[in-house]
Amino acid sequence: MIKFLDLYKQDKLLHNVILKKIKKLIKKGDFILGKEVSLFENNFKKFCGSNYAISCANGTDALTLALKALDLPKNSEVLIPAMTYCSTAFSVFNAGLRPKLVDTEFLKPTICLKDLKKKISKKTKVILPVHLYGSTANLSGIKKLIGKKKIFLIDDCAQAHGAYDDSIKLKLKKKIGSTTDISCFSLYPGKNLGAYGDAGIITTNNKKFYNKIRKLRNLGSEKKFIHDLVGMNSRLDSIQAIILNEKLKRLNLLNAKRKIIAKRYNDEIQNSKIRKINYSDSCVYHQYVILAKDRNKLIKILSKNNIQYGFHYPYSINQLNVFKKYFKKNKYDNAEILAKEGLSLPIDPNLTYKQISFIIKTINGM
Ligand SMILES: Cc1ncc(COP(=O)(O)O)c(C=O)c1O
Repeated sequence: MIKFLDLYKQDKLLHNVILKKIKKLIKKGDFILGKEVSLFENNFKKFCGSNYAISCANGTDALTLALKALDLPKNSEVLIPAMTYCSTAFSVFNAGLRPKLVDTEFLKPTICLKDLKKKISKKTKVILPVHLYGSTANLSGIKKLIGKKKIFLIDDCAQAHGAYDDSIKLKLKKKIGSTTDISCFSLYPGKNLGAYGDAGIITTNNKKFYNKIRKLRNLGSEKKFIHDLVGMNSRLDSIQAIILNEKLKRLNLLNAKRKIIAKRYNDEIQNSKIRKINYSDSCVYHQYVILAKDRNKLIKILSKNNIQYGFHYPYSINQLNVFKKYFKKNKYDNAEILAKEGLSLPIDPNLTYKQISFIIKTINGM
């Protein structure tokens, strides 16, 4: 069986250190927003090259907190891509705002700038691109469209830990998490950087947002018993921070391994029944998605050969039951192609050369 992702194997080297540190922590009883949490915030901010980082309970909350920090009027419009995980849209509603959908680029997983340009209006208060599959959205292009308009740029980085902002054409590259107003990361176990439970983190270069989000994630409080805002209970616990501090040390290595696997898929999958999609230059391949018109046939062949697969995602946002009523008048052709034809191949950094060859041979033989 070729597993889609084997987290146990991925972290095996770290288990002893993690368990020792957790044992120590249990003795100390420093469980929520403790020293390890501050250390992780510091490490992650340095990793991204941003001025500030604020951890929280999960990626959905990270987005919700970021949107709440903007203090926008109720029902303000937020532009999001039509193909993303449901959480991007949920966070907009959670923050009392309204999403408007923008199609993705043809055969690309990120927001289409041509459609975005058409959809920006006087009502638009936030643009929220998603670096889906680890492929970075064209942030510089979006900034150009924003120009002098009072529109905030928040990026959903849940799938792009460690990617570079490819849209900046400087020699000294900047990491995702350091180039927009606020960046939001999920640290869900299966992410490129994942905890052993729910976790999330927000980065920003803006001190005002930093101070506000620190309060918002902790019931509106920075000091015990002093509550200045209506906040959320969305804090990271120290056990998760211990795990994340250890795993962050290996993130670059594991991302490099993902890129090697993706390069082989890019170069060696050759079958007229399969369409490949285009990823950004520094993509960290959280997922590697291919398109097949006859997806059922591909599924059958992979299953027969004991190769696990996934879907990211089988429905675009407009197709989700909960959102149908909001978007039923519109079509999002490119996003809907990803939903209908997309299939995610294993991209576990520990796949062997032989396993990758077998996956490629199986697909090419379809
Ligand atoms: C693109 C995207 N946004 C947001 C989230 C939400 O993160 P979480 O599951 O940590 O709440 C995810 C996680 O799956 C995601 O992939």
